[in-house]
Amino acid sequence: MTAPSTTTFPAKGLEGVVATQSAISYVDGEAGRLIYRGYDIDDLARHSTFEETAYLLMIGRLPTRSELKEFAAQLKAAQRLDKVTLRVIKDAPPGSRPMNVLRTATSATVYTDPDKGDNSPEAELRKSIRLLAKVPTIIATFHRLRSGQRPLTPRKSLSLAANFLYLLTGEVPEQEVARAFDVALILHADHELNASTFTARVIAATLMDVHGAVTGAMAALAGPLHGGANMEVMKMLLEIDQPERAERWILERLAAKQKIMGFGHRVYRTEDPRARHLRKMSEEMGKKLGQPKWYEISRKIEEVVMREKGLYCNVDFYSASLYYVMGIPVDLYTPIFAMSRVAGWCAHILEQHSDNRLIRPRAEYTGPLGLAYVPLNRRGR
Ligand code: ACO
Repeated sequence: MTAPSTTTFPAKGLEGVVATQSAISYVDGEAGRLIYRGYDIDDLARHSTFEETAYLLMIGRLPTRSELKEFAAQLKAAQRLDKVTLRVIKDAPPGSRPMNVLRTATSATVYTDPDKGDNSPEAELRKSIRLLAKVPTIIATFHRLRSGQRPLTPRKSLSLAANFLYLLTGEVPEQEVARAFDVALILHADHELNASTFTARVIAATLMDVHGAVTGAMAALAGPLHGGANMEVMKMLLEIDQPERAERWILERLAAKQKIMGFGHRVYRTEDPRARHLRKMSEEMGKKLGQPKWYEISRKIEEVVMREKGLYCNVDFYSASLYYVMGIPVDLYTPIFAMSRVAGWCAHILEQHSDNRLIRPRAEYTGPLGLAYVPLNRRGR
């Protein structure tokens, strides 16, 4: 007996399914364009800052000068970690994966949040701003502690991007380096209904708060098919090590039907507009910081994958070599993605709550029906 067909299964992985309406970001997969709240990502990458872009995403419009100043002040006021969160980070066993620590510590910030339990739109926005401010500190604190270094206190004079690099390395970055990192954060801040954002909205739709939805989104982001791909890209570059070894390495993997990390996309059928900016920054920073090799290997891989499979690289491909030459540890690449994407997740959570309905789709049942129950003692060993 089979189940009566009450549902039609659209496509595996919900490909092509429009699951919500949103005014936050628009991905034009055919033209290769990404729009945040009406503004082209190219313009934002050229002219905006991460703080301004986060305001745009979360509040819905570009801030005035005084609004931006106030927003930046709110971020700075919330950067430091409370004792409970600090203890969660310190208690992580040696060798813990950074995304596991980040997810757990982010969740723990709710314990001491002054707005905990208040899910009014105003409180949700205040909690979102605090999360945006605290996530960079959590990542850097974890890294300092695991490498036997003293965690540093955030500097109020620095932008969110520059402050993160300072908290990580103990050195205030050169302006050009801080700007490249700032642009990388802008480029990662939102991307329509990707897997982690969809997760955040599903959780938010149960009327769970920002902390719960962001924690779930972080879990979804960490997988290698999503935000985990940037670390896998760097592992590949390190294994290849020389540009002249790239072609053979890729051909062997493709012949073995393996996926090349940092390539392909569910929505883009042309170049990912974010990859264009990251490619340029990877080249410039590679030269400036005396390590052009990783960009050269990446270029070669890009050429071979395009020739052999017709696939474009995605946002995770050139961010890997860019972060590497900046001296960022490879296993922090996905946490950095999360640090930026908190802005987009929170924007979507706030939007979901502003016009909520529980997200509860159906499944087409393919299992058996009408089986006779056999008591345990008659089922054999
Ligand atoms: N390397 C080699 N072949 C690939 C790749 C790749 N990176 N990506 C897709 N393909 C091939 C698949 O093998 C498949 O071929 P087939 O039809 O002959 O079986 C075809 O292209 C379609 O691929 P799917 O995996 O079905 O595409 P889907 O839309 O489900 O997945 C995804 C998109 C997950 C991004 C996929 O391209 C992939 O696994 N890429 C590598 C991981 C990666 O870079 N992820 C980061 C994505 S961006 C982000 O999340 C921030």
